[in-house]
Amino acid sequence: MNTQTPKYWTQYKLLDFGNGVKIEQFNNKITIRPETNATNELTNSISYWQQKADYIYNSTTVDGGSWNKTNEAVWLITYKAEKINLKFQLSLSNSKHIGIFPEQAVNWEYIAPQISENNSVLNLFAYSGAISMVCAQAGANVTHVDSSKTAIKQAQENAKINNLNNIRFIIDDAFLFSKKEVIRKNKYNFIILDPPVYGFGAKGNNWKLTKDIEPLLKICKELLHKNGTIILNTYTPKFTVKHSLPIIYSVFSKACNLEFGKLSITDSFNKNLILSNFYIIKP
Ligand SMILES: C[S@@+](CC[C@H](N)C(=O)[O-])C[C@H]1O[C@@H](n2cnc3c(N)ncnc32)[C@H](O)[C@@H]1O
Repeated sequence: MNTQTPKYWTQYKLLDFGNGVKIEQFNNKITIRPETNATNELTNSISYWQQKADYIYNSTTVDGGSWNKTNEAVWLITYKAEKINLKFQLSLSNSKHIGIFPEQAVNWEYIAPQISENNSVLNLFAYSGAISMVCAQAGANVTHVDSSKTAIKQAQENAKINNLNNIRFIIDDAFLFSKKEVIRKNKYNFIILDPPVYGFGAKGNNWKLTKDIEPLLKICKELLHKNGTIILNTYTPKFTVKHSLPIIYSVFSKACNLEFGKLSITDSFNKNLILSNFYIIKP
């Protein structure tokens, strides 16, 4: 299996993972968060890490929980690689997410050197916009779409602290917005999708990965310039390559240029935590 790990993090470290949690350092803050893929044993004990941690997220339901501290100031993390020099704002949200997905730096490192001035990028399910910032800084005109007002606000804040003016922020359902873009005959050089398993559109329409990904990929195919690239990332263990490859091949044909694999992070004891599946499609 093609497993990729980010190469250039200096302010982020995965310290340890196991027993259903991961212990991470984001700049000078240590967090403990739930991690379904951490099925092994922690290397150090949980009480050792609890003494060191600044922020601990306790799950109370399958999707929800809370941090041990509230109203903490936001803090920053810096990331530098080829054609990338960015700061991202981090904060404790109601969910276990804090503003970036560090393993996604593999995709940032992949796309930044390929962007040419004035390329167009469509980022769907774009969250706080790390990859939108990467593409905008490399010179692309970016359309950033997310159905959550909070996520869009976070992304706008990231654009502001990085002095980026070439991002169009759209609060909309990814599917409905993409359909409208086909009617408007807009085209993109790169389309990036990081869809959740379940989600909500801005007008309440539901997103279900297993049902909706095929029609959305068909729309993305129409929106892509000749020689364009689609980057798809999925986190759910229920949507493995066994499920996704037949869908991708049915939309783009078996002759398409496809690279796929897993995104992972190595911890300070050299254990590797597999987190998501990525697909780079060049139809
Ligand atoms: C897994 S996060 C994406 C992470 C992001 N790519 C990154 O690396 O920072 C999923 C995002 O999808 C958004 N979302 C969920 N359902 C949506 C929908 N139907 N249309 C648009 N965005 C949606 C959520 O608000 C959330 O910000």
